[in-house]
Amino acid sequence: MDPKQTIYNILNRADGVISGEALSTELGVSRVAIWKHVQGLIKSGVPIYSSPKGYRMPPDPDSLVPWAFDKWRDRVHFFTETGSTMDEAMVMARKGCAEFTVVAAQRQCRGRGRMQRTWLSDDGGLYFTVVVRPDIPMLLAGLVNLAAAVDMAHLLRFQYRVDARLKWPNDILVEKRKICGLLSQMEAEGDQVAHMNIGIGLNVNNAPQTEVPIATSLKALLGRPVPRREILVAFLNLFEKRMAAFDPRVVVDEWKSNNVTLGRQVRVLTHKERVEGTAVDMDSRGGLILRLADGSNRTVVVGDCFIGGEDEPPTDPVVVGR
Ligand code: BTN
Repeated sequence: MDPKQTIYNILNRADGVISGEALSTELGVSRVAIWKHVQGLIKSGVPIYSSPKGYRMPPDPDSLVPWAFDKWRDRVHFFTETGSTMDEAMVMARKGCAEFTVVAAQRQCRGRGRMQRTWLSDDGGLYFTVVVRPDIPMLLAGLVNLAAAVDMAHLLRFQYRVDARLKWPNDILVEKRKICGLLSQMEAEGDQVAHMNIGIGLNVNNAPQTEVPIATSLKALLGRPVPRREILVAFLNLFEKRMAAFDPRVVVDEWKSNNVTLGRQVRVLTHKERVEGTAVDMDSRGGLILRLADGSNRTVVVGDCFIGGEDEPPTDPVVVGR
Protein backbone atom coordinates (compact mmCIF):
# COMPACT_ATOMS: atom_id res chain seq x y z
CA MET A 1 0.00 0.00 0.00
CA ASP A 2 1.07 3.57 -0.68
CA PRO A 3 2.89 4.71 2.51
CA LYS A 4 0.89 7.95 2.51
CA GLN A 5 -2.30 5.89 2.53
CA THR A 6 -1.02 3.82 5.47
CA ILE A 7 -0.09 6.95 7.42
CA TYR A 8 -3.46 8.50 6.59
CA ASN A 9 -5.31 5.38 7.78
CA ILE A 10 -3.35 5.17 11.03
CA LEU A 11 -3.86 8.85 11.86
CA ASN A 12 -7.51 8.65 10.80
CA ARG A 13 -8.19 5.75 13.15
CA ALA A 14 -6.20 7.23 16.01
CA ASP A 15 -7.88 9.11 18.77
CA GLY A 16 -5.09 11.60 19.38
CA VAL A 17 -1.39 11.94 18.71
CA ILE A 18 0.68 9.16 17.09
CA SER A 19 4.42 9.40 17.49
CA GLY A 20 6.80 9.49 14.54
CA GLU A 21 8.49 6.48 16.06
CA ALA A 22 5.28 4.42 16.12
CA LEU A 23 4.64 5.29 12.48
CA SER A 24 8.20 4.49 11.53
CA THR A 25 7.94 1.06 13.21
CA GLU A 26 4.57 0.34 11.62
CA LEU A 27 5.78 1.25 8.11
CA GLY A 28 9.33 -0.04 8.51
CA VAL A 29 10.88 3.21 7.31
CA SER A 30 12.92 5.94 8.98
CA ARG A 31 11.36 8.83 10.90
CA VAL A 32 12.75 11.18 8.28
CA ALA A 33 10.89 9.22 5.61
CA ILE A 34 7.72 9.46 7.73
CA TRP A 35 8.22 13.21 8.06
CA LYS A 36 8.57 13.52 4.28
CA HIS A 37 5.37 11.55 3.64
CA VAL A 38 3.53 13.65 6.21
CA GLN A 39 4.73 16.84 4.50
CA GLY A 40 3.45 15.42 1.21
CA LEU A 41 0.05 14.72 2.76
CA ILE A 42 -0.12 18.22 4.24
CA LYS A 43 0.79 19.75 0.88
CA SER A 44 -2.05 17.79 -0.74
CA GLY A 45 -4.59 19.25 1.64
CA VAL A 46 -4.61 16.86 4.60
CA PRO A 47 -4.69 18.76 7.90
CA ILE A 48 -2.01 17.05 10.00
CA TYR A 49 -0.64 18.81 13.04
CA SER A 50 2.81 17.96 14.32
CA SER A 51 4.24 18.50 17.78
CA PRO A 52 7.24 17.08 19.64
CA LYS A 53 4.94 14.19 20.65
CA GLY A 54 4.06 13.25 17.09
CA TYR A 55 1.31 13.75 14.55
CA ARG A 56 -2.43 14.32 14.88
CA MET A 57 -5.12 14.47 12.23
CA PRO A 58 -8.55 15.73 13.29
CA PRO A 59 -11.50 13.80 11.83
CA ASP A 60 -12.72 15.47 8.65
CA PRO A 61 -15.73 13.86 6.96
CA ASP A 62 -15.75 16.76 4.49
CA SER A 63 -12.26 16.05 3.15
CA LEU A 64 -11.91 15.33 -0.57
CA VAL A 65 -8.30 14.13 -0.53
CA PRO A 66 -7.98 10.79 -2.38
CA TRP A 67 -6.81 8.93 0.74
CA ALA A 68 -10.19 9.60 2.33
CA PHE A 69 -12.05 7.61 -0.34
CA ASP A 70 -12.39 3.83 -0.51
CA LYS A 71 -13.55 2.54 -3.87
CA TRP A 72 -12.88 5.81 -5.71
CA ARG A 73 -9.46 6.47 -4.16
CA ASP A 74 -7.37 5.77 -7.27
CA ARG A 75 -9.53 7.91 -9.49
CA VAL A 76 -9.95 11.01 -7.36
CA HIS A 77 -7.53 13.90 -7.94
CA PHE A 78 -7.89 16.75 -5.49
CA PHE A 79 -6.58 20.30 -5.76
CA THR A 80 -6.78 22.74 -2.88
CA GLU A 81 -6.82 25.41 -5.57
CA THR A 82 -6.87 25.25 -9.33
CA GLY A 83 -8.02 27.37 -12.26
CA SER A 84 -10.85 25.08 -13.31
CA THR A 85 -11.37 21.36 -12.80
CA MET A 86 -12.54 21.33 -16.44
CA ASP A 87 -9.02 22.18 -17.62
CA GLU A 88 -7.33 19.64 -15.36
CA ALA A 89 -9.77 16.95 -16.47
CA MET A 90 -9.24 17.79 -20.13
CA VAL A 91 -5.49 17.28 -19.80
CA MET A 92 -6.05 13.92 -18.09
CA ALA A 93 -8.71 12.81 -20.58
CA ARG A 94 -6.44 13.59 -23.53
CA LYS A 95 -3.69 11.56 -21.91
CA GLY A 96 -6.09 8.60 -21.75
CA CYS A 97 -7.04 8.59 -18.06
CA ALA A 98 -9.37 5.88 -16.78
CA GLU A 99 -13.08 6.30 -17.11
CA PHE A 100 -14.57 7.98 -14.05
CA THR A 101 -11.43 9.86 -13.26
CA VAL A 102 -12.58 12.68 -10.99
CA VAL A 103 -10.96 16.07 -10.54
CA ALA A 104 -12.19 17.93 -7.48
CA ALA A 105 -11.13 21.27 -6.07
CA GLN A 106 -11.51 23.12 -2.82
CA ARG A 107 -11.50 26.40 -4.73
CA GLN A 108 -11.32 27.38 -8.39
CA CYS A 109 -9.91 30.74 -9.37
CA ARG A 110 -11.24 30.52 -12.94
CA GLY A 111 -14.32 28.36 -12.42
CA ARG A 112 -16.60 28.64 -15.40
CA GLY A 113 -20.25 28.12 -16.15
CA ARG A 114 -22.20 27.76 -19.34
CA MET A 115 -22.34 30.54 -21.92
CA GLN A 116 -18.87 31.85 -20.91
CA ARG A 117 -20.01 32.86 -17.45
CA THR A 118 -17.87 32.76 -14.36
CA TRP A 119 -18.65 30.17 -11.69
CA LEU A 120 -17.58 31.63 -8.39
CA SER A 121 -16.00 28.79 -6.48
CA ASP A 122 -15.40 29.70 -2.86
CA ASP A 123 -14.58 27.31 -0.04
CA GLY A 124 -17.39 25.00 0.94
CA GLY A 125 -18.90 24.24 -2.46
CA LEU A 126 -18.47 20.93 -4.25
CA TYR A 127 -16.64 21.52 -7.53
CA PHE A 128 -15.64 18.55 -9.63
CA THR A 129 -15.35 17.19 -13.14
CA VAL A 130 -15.79 13.53 -14.00
CA VAL A 131 -14.44 11.99 -17.20
CA VAL A 132 -16.62 9.42 -18.94
CA ARG A 133 -16.10 7.54 -22.18
CA PRO A 134 -19.59 6.51 -23.32
CA ASP A 135 -19.89 4.41 -26.43
CA ILE A 136 -22.47 6.67 -28.07
CA PRO A 137 -22.70 8.88 -31.14
CA MET A 138 -21.94 12.57 -30.72
CA LEU A 139 -25.57 13.40 -31.39
CA LEU A 140 -26.56 11.84 -28.07
CA ALA A 141 -23.82 13.47 -26.01
CA GLY A 142 -26.17 16.07 -24.50
CA LEU A 143 -28.04 13.24 -22.82
CA VAL A 144 -25.01 12.33 -20.73
CA ASN A 145 -25.07 15.77 -19.19
CA LEU A 146 -28.81 15.47 -18.59
CA ALA A 147 -28.24 12.05 -17.02
CA ALA A 148 -25.74 13.51 -14.57
CA ALA A 149 -28.24 16.24 -13.65
CA VAL A 150 -31.00 13.65 -13.21
CA ASP A 151 -28.76 11.60 -10.88
CA MET A 152 -27.64 14.58 -8.83
CA ALA A 153 -31.24 15.78 -8.44
CA HIS A 154 -32.29 12.26 -7.43
CA LEU A 155 -29.57 12.17 -4.80
CA LEU A 156 -30.54 15.56 -3.40
CA ARG A 157 -34.19 14.52 -3.23
CA PHE A 158 -33.76 11.10 -1.70
CA GLN A 159 -30.62 11.44 0.41
CA TYR A 160 -31.10 15.00 1.61
CA ARG A 161 -34.87 15.33 1.24
CA VAL A 162 -34.77 18.66 -0.59
CA ASP A 163 -37.17 19.29 -3.45
CA ALA A 164 -34.57 19.29 -6.24
CA ARG A 165 -36.01 19.85 -9.72
CA LEU A 166 -34.46 20.03 -13.14
CA LYS A 167 -34.48 23.11 -15.26
CA TRP A 168 -33.45 22.80 -18.88
CA PRO A 169 -30.74 22.41 -19.87
CA ASN A 170 -28.77 21.51 -16.79
CA ASP A 171 -29.69 23.43 -13.70
CA ILE A 172 -30.98 21.98 -10.50
CA LEU A 173 -33.31 24.21 -8.52
CA VAL A 174 -34.80 23.90 -5.09
CA GLU A 175 -37.77 26.14 -4.40
CA LYS A 176 -36.94 28.08 -7.59
CA ARG A 177 -33.39 28.73 -6.36
CA LYS A 178 -30.36 27.33 -8.12
CA ILE A 179 -28.38 24.82 -6.10
CA CYS A 180 -26.36 23.13 -8.84
CA GLY A 181 -25.09 23.78 -12.35
CA LEU A 182 -23.54 21.38 -14.84
CA LEU A 183 -21.23 22.01 -17.73
CA SER A 184 -19.80 19.53 -20.20
CA GLN A 185 -16.97 19.34 -22.67
CA MET A 186 -16.65 16.64 -25.25
CA GLU A 187 -14.13 15.39 -27.75
CA ALA A 188 -15.03 13.01 -30.54
CA GLU A 189 -13.40 10.43 -32.76
CA GLY A 190 -15.30 10.56 -36.03
CA ASP A 191 -18.98 10.53 -35.10
CA GLN A 192 -18.45 8.80 -31.77
CA VAL A 193 -17.80 10.40 -28.40
CA ALA A 194 -14.19 9.87 -27.31
CA HIS A 195 -14.66 11.34 -23.86
CA MET A 196 -17.02 13.66 -22.07
CA ASN A 197 -16.04 15.73 -19.10
CA ILE A 198 -18.97 16.58 -16.90
CA GLY A 199 -18.33 19.51 -14.56
CA ILE A 200 -20.58 19.94 -11.58
CA GLY A 201 -20.80 22.84 -9.16
CA LEU A 202 -23.02 22.16 -6.17
CA ASN A 203 -23.65 24.75 -3.48
CA VAL A 204 -23.11 22.77 -0.31
CA ASN A 205 -21.62 24.75 2.58
CA ASN A 206 -20.72 27.89 0.62
CA ALA A 207 -22.78 31.05 0.54
CA PRO A 208 -23.58 31.57 -3.16
CA GLN A 209 -24.24 35.18 -4.09
CA THR A 210 -26.12 35.42 -7.32
CA GLU A 211 -29.16 37.27 -8.45
CA VAL A 212 -30.66 35.47 -11.42
CA PRO A 213 -31.79 32.94 -10.56
CA ILE A 214 -31.38 33.39 -6.85
CA ALA A 215 -29.10 30.68 -5.51
CA THR A 216 -29.29 28.48 -2.46
CA SER A 217 -27.12 25.85 -0.80
CA LEU A 218 -27.69 22.56 0.99
CA LYS A 219 -26.48 24.12 4.22
CA ALA A 220 -28.99 26.95 3.91
CA LEU A 221 -31.80 24.51 3.17
CA LEU A 222 -30.98 21.98 5.88
CA GLY A 223 -29.68 24.38 8.50
CA ARG A 224 -26.49 22.33 8.99
CA PRO A 225 -23.23 21.80 7.12
CA VAL A 226 -23.16 18.71 4.92
CA PRO A 227 -19.93 16.70 4.32
CA ARG A 228 -19.11 16.98 0.64
CA ARG A 229 -17.39 13.59 0.40
CA GLU A 230 -20.58 11.63 1.05
CA ILE A 231 -22.33 13.58 -1.71
CA LEU A 232 -19.52 12.97 -4.18
CA VAL A 233 -19.34 9.25 -3.42
CA ALA A 234 -23.12 8.82 -3.64
CA PHE A 235 -23.19 10.71 -6.96
CA LEU A 236 -20.33 8.68 -8.45
CA ASN A 237 -21.98 5.40 -7.46
CA LEU A 238 -25.28 6.44 -9.02
CA PHE A 239 -23.74 7.87 -12.18
CA GLU A 240 -21.47 4.87 -12.65
CA LYS A 241 -24.53 2.59 -12.65
CA ARG A 242 -26.32 4.92 -15.02
CA MET A 243 -23.46 4.94 -17.52
CA ALA A 244 -23.00 1.17 -17.35
CA ALA A 245 -26.52 0.75 -18.73
CA PHE A 246 -26.96 4.03 -20.56
CA ASP A 247 -30.44 4.28 -22.03
CA PRO A 248 -31.35 7.55 -23.77
CA ARG A 249 -35.10 6.97 -23.41
CA VAL A 250 -34.83 6.43 -19.67
CA VAL A 251 -32.78 9.61 -19.28
CA VAL A 252 -35.38 11.68 -21.15
CA ASP A 253 -38.26 10.09 -19.23
CA GLU A 254 -36.61 10.63 -15.87
CA TRP A 255 -35.72 14.21 -16.76
CA LYS A 256 -39.30 14.88 -17.84
CA SER A 257 -40.77 13.41 -14.68
CA ASN A 258 -38.81 15.79 -12.46
CA ASN A 259 -38.55 19.06 -14.36
CA VAL A 260 -39.81 22.59 -13.85
CA THR A 261 -39.51 23.70 -17.48
CA LEU A 262 -42.15 21.87 -19.51
CA GLY A 263 -45.50 23.60 -19.66
CA ARG A 264 -43.96 26.97 -18.87
CA GLN A 265 -43.56 30.11 -20.92
CA VAL A 266 -39.80 30.37 -21.49
CA ARG A 267 -37.20 32.48 -23.17
CA VAL A 268 -34.12 30.68 -24.46
CA LEU A 269 -30.97 32.66 -25.18
CA THR A 270 -28.52 31.03 -27.53
CA HIS A 271 -25.22 32.48 -28.69
CA LYS A 272 -27.04 33.94 -31.67
CA GLU A 273 -30.64 34.56 -30.79
CA ARG A 274 -33.50 34.69 -28.35
CA VAL A 275 -36.40 32.26 -28.78
CA GLU A 276 -39.63 32.63 -26.83
CA GLY A 277 -42.50 30.22 -26.47
CA THR A 278 -44.06 27.54 -24.35
CA ALA A 279 -41.78 24.62 -23.51
CA VAL A 280 -43.86 21.66 -24.65
CA ASP A 281 -41.55 18.67 -24.74
CA MET A 282 -38.02 17.28 -24.78
CA ASP A 283 -36.87 15.46 -27.91
CA SER A 284 -34.99 12.15 -27.93
CA ARG A 285 -31.61 13.93 -27.83
CA GLY A 286 -32.42 16.27 -24.97
CA GLY A 287 -33.40 19.28 -27.07
CA LEU A 288 -36.18 21.51 -25.76
CA ILE A 289 -39.22 21.83 -28.01
CA LEU A 290 -40.91 25.23 -27.87
CA ARG A 291 -44.33 26.12 -29.23
CA LEU A 292 -43.94 29.60 -30.67
CA ALA A 293 -46.58 32.34 -30.80
CA ASP A 294 -47.37 31.52 -34.44
CA GLY A 295 -48.21 27.93 -33.49
CA SER A 296 -45.08 26.38 -35.00
CA ASN A 297 -42.63 24.23 -33.02
CA ARG A 298 -38.96 24.99 -32.62
CA THR A 299 -36.31 22.78 -31.00
CA VAL A 300 -33.37 24.35 -29.22
CA VAL A 301 -30.37 22.22 -28.34
CA VAL A 302 -28.03 24.71 -26.68
CA GLY A 303 -28.82 27.82 -24.71
CA ASP A 304 -29.88 29.33 -21.45
CA CYS A 305 -33.47 29.07 -20.47
CA PHE A 306 -35.40 31.60 -18.41
CA ILE A 307 -38.80 30.76 -17.07
CA GLY A 308 -41.29 33.57 -17.53
CA GLY A 309 -41.97 35.66 -14.47
CA GLU A 310 -39.55 33.72 -12.28
CA ASP A 311 -36.04 34.29 -13.44
CA GLU A 312 -36.24 36.83 -16.21
CA PRO A 313 -32.71 37.86 -17.16
CA PRO A 314 -31.52 41.42 -16.98
CA THR A 315 -31.12 43.10 -20.37
CA ASP A 316 -27.55 41.92 -20.79
CA PRO A 317 -27.62 38.10 -20.58
CA VAL A 318 -23.87 37.92 -20.04
CA VAL A 319 -24.20 39.19 -16.48
CA VAL A 320 -26.64 36.50 -15.47
CA GLY A 321 -25.16 34.60 -12.52
CA ARG A 322 -25.42 30.96 -11.61
C1 BTN B 1 -23.58 26.53 -15.06
O1 BTN B 1 -24.59 26.45 -14.37
O2 BTN B 1 -23.38 27.50 -15.79
C2 BTN B 1 -22.57 25.41 -15.00
C3 BTN B 1 -21.64 25.55 -13.85
C4 BTN B 1 -20.61 24.45 -13.76
C5 BTN B 1 -19.61 24.70 -12.66
C6 BTN B 1 -18.68 23.54 -12.47
S1 BTN B 1 -17.73 23.65 -10.98
C7 BTN B 1 -16.73 22.30 -11.50
C8 BTN B 1 -16.48 22.50 -12.97
N1 BTN B 1 -15.35 23.39 -13.16
C9 BTN B 1 -15.70 24.53 -13.74
O3 BTN B 1 -14.92 25.44 -14.02
N2 BTN B 1 -17.00 24.53 -13.98
C10 BTN B 1 -17.65 23.31 -13.55
